[in-house]
Amino acid sequence: MNETTLIKTANALVSDDKGILAMDESNPTCNKRFAALGIPQTEEARRAYREMIVTTPGLGKSISGAILYDETIRQHLNDGTPFIKAVVNAGIIPGIKVDAGAKEMAGHPGEKISEGLDGLRDRLKEYAQMGLRFAKWRAVIAIGKDIPSQACIEANAHALARYAALCQEAGLVPIVEPEVLMDGDHTLQRCFDVTEQVLKTVFNQLYRQGILLEGMILKPNMVLPGLACPKQESVDEVADATVKCLLRTVPAAVPGIAFLSGGQSPELASARLSAMNSRYKSHLPWELAFSFARAIQQPALEIWQGKEANVPEAQKALFDRASYNRAARQGEYNTNKKIK
Ligand code: G3H
Repeated sequence: MNETTLIKTANALVSDDKGILAMDESNPTCNKRFAALGIPQTEEARRAYREMIVTTPGLGKSISGAILYDETIRQHLNDGTPFIKAVVNAGIIPGIKVDAGAKEMAGHPGEKISEGLDGLRDRLKEYAQMGLRFAKWRAVIAIGKDIPSQACIEANAHALARYAALCQEAGLVPIVEPEVLMDGDHTLQRCFDVTEQVLKTVFNQLYRQGILLEGMILKPNMVLPGLACPKQESVDEVADATVKCLLRTVPAAVPGIAFLSGGQSPELASARLSAMNSRYKSHLPWELAFSFARAIQQPALEIWQGKEANVPEAQKALFDRASYNRAARQGEYNTNKKIK
């Protein structure tokens, strides 16, 4: 493990008020989003869409790193440039999703365990040789009647820690993503309690596996009421609850926390991140950043529609959303004011 390289990369991912763009949707997820808009679900459409993203002029002003998918890193832009090189040319650090998806957990109806540890050492070796510098593994925790179980939380936390150890051995910064889902009618307090329990378990496992905390990034959910909960707290209340939960659970040695958006609207995700930074930034031990997929991409995808002619306008929407999130890192995103 080269500690200096890991620490340098982890810090670069959260420096200059930039954040990470997740563009690592698996083929089924990407196809589902395309199908909803009537876009053909083909390998070429996925390639063209991702070319639109990585060639967005000025994207590197707000985006520090991009999480790619295995299919994408083997593809090329229309002019023949390999995707990884195109990302690097844009001033963005290339990363890769390495979990093999969340699958039904045996004996635990309604719960999932992320797969992909078998053979991971060899895959990471290849990714490092290709020039990828960080990785992502997503674990999914659902809230419902009698769930999450301790068994599900522990199994996922253990897998995250084993993945993180293999990444650091290979010289890749692990993004550790335990996502407590928004689906359901649970309250903000219930999300707080589950997120606190999950993060405590994850950091306990990371400690046991000897993870260099200075060379990793945490990618958690914000603490939110369930989507179907009748009481939806204000932006500031969500910011307060999220920061309180993270202060209780995330060691100060971790350089950065980059939130997932999880199905929040782009505006709300930015507003909540901005509120956290405007209220707390100066006295937090870690950077509070973003690693959004839908909250950055969705407006651009809706404009693109699979049509070459829509690329400039889609790129503008993508650039704007990325810039708004950079403003949110400075605590300066304002939904009433256009921030460029
Ligand atoms: O693993 C999930 C993605 O990287 C983040 O996606 O921001 O749409 O939740 P999201």
